[in-house]
Amino acid sequence: MTRNVPLTPERFAEATQNCNVEIPYTSDISVLSEKTVIGSKTIENRLACQAMEGCDGNADGAPGELTERRYLRFAKGGAGIIWFEATACTEEGRANPRQLYLNRKNLDNFKSLVNKIRETAIRENGYAPLIIMQNTHSGRYSKPHGVAEPVIAYNNPLLEDSGPIEKSHIITDEGIDRIGEAMVNNSVLAEKAGFDGVDIKCCHRYLNSELLSAYNRGGRYGGCFENRTRLLRETVRNSMHAVSTDFIVSSRLNIYDGLPFPYGFGVSEKSGTDPDLDEPKRLVKELRGLGMQIINITMGNPYFNPHVNRPFSMGPYQADEHPVEGVARVLNGISEVHAAVPEIKVLASALSWLGVVSPNVAAAYIANGGFDFAGFGRMIFAYPDFAKDILTRGSLDSRKICIACSKCTEIMRTPGGTPGCAVRDPLYTEIYRKIKNSTK
Ligand SMILES: Cc1cc2nc3c(=O)[nH]c(=O)nc-3n(C[C@H](O)[C@H](O)[C@H](O)COP(=O)(O)O)c2cc1C
Repeated sequence: MTRNVPLTPERFAEATQNCNVEIPYTSDISVLSEKTVIGSKTIENRLACQAMEGCDGNADGAPGELTERRYLRFAKGGAGIIWFEATACTEEGRANPRQLYLNRKNLDNFKSLVNKIRETAIRENGYAPLIIMQNTHSGRYSKPHGVAEPVIAYNNPLLEDSGPIEKSHIITDEGIDRIGEAMVNNSVLAEKAGFDGVDIKCCHRYLNSELLSAYNRGGRYGGCFENRTRLLRETVRNSMHAVSTDFIVSSRLNIYDGLPFPYGFGVSEKSGTDPDLDEPKRLVKELRGLGMQIINITMGNPYFNPHVNRPFSMGPYQADEHPVEGVARVLNGISEVHAAVPEIKVLASALSWLGVVSPNVAAAYIANGGFDFAGFGRMIFAYPDFAKDILTRGSLDSRKICIACSKCTEIMRTPGGTPGCAVRDPLYTEIYRKIKNSTK
């Protein structure tokens, strides 16, 4: 049974059957063109560019030339939502020296980029996308100067295979309070920069997401559910108070880490890495109670178990499951959480491996209430105008799709690498070739 993209509808059906997973499919994709309203904002269609970091900012954290190139391509592509990539709230919280970092000094650079995104989209498509900025602190994966400077919530032997990180890197409760304040300031700056909203990032094992599984930490941020979710809830609430009422405050949330208890959120306490979505449902309900209107849901840890986060055809290892099982885990997990909290709009993840069948699967989930928006990650690097093709020609072109080969991740993991699609975008084919030559 093939693990490789491109799939045909027949090979997709065969894979789901052989793997015994249920993923709905429909040939009627008209729902993807439907508008939605969130507060004062209208979203023109159900397709979204997921947050995809390019590690191509300038040293001061401002967007660089490649950043602008990427976003203007996405803007032309016609997606209803652009979820703008991880943007650090403090310099120490950057995941690499070229991660975007919004601050007072470079605010005008962000403003200019957001304006250009909007103007380009309106000129090209007649409408602007909703643009939400991801507000992050990289926590355990902080590398602001190119070497690891981890800020951890607790020691985790599964993620520290070369020996435990020194206790001095465990952040104090007061340190967490300060990061919460920095995130709120970053939310305020995001509004000033012209974004439509902000995402208090709580996924992929960065600081906020690691706290969700800090079962054995003491103090105000560890132990019980209330403490483990405190940074997220308080940062969301304080951001909502600090910005104007029509500015959206959202979160990209891991509902399942794929790490066993007591090291993972959304996992069963009794059986290995089996999902248990009770706490994630409770958290989404509480976020909705705070007034959150849209949430972006994801799973996994891109450093530890990337096949959970981004099911791939080729990657750093052969996963012990078929990629279609990974896709089903994410999409059905998202649907389960949405069914428990139907009042919140949900943006889904992990559709890229589905290739040409992704519009049909996305439309089926949206039509049956599984989620509201279909988010595409790796696909947008390969095929920035994916949305336009889905909306106007009714399908994706198999010669343009992401083949889930993991080369973008490979570039990202190379120090100084600026990820993009090495298969479909000649500029990045060259970047990838240079990286391969330099590591020979
Ligand atoms: C190169 C690269 C950069 C990424 N950057 C971000 C990011 O900035 N923020 C984030 O939440 N997820 C990030 N992701 C994860 C994607 O948003 C997405 O969850 C993942 O690729 C699965 O979706 P897909 O199957 O559509 O690719 C990144 C993934 C890749 C491969």
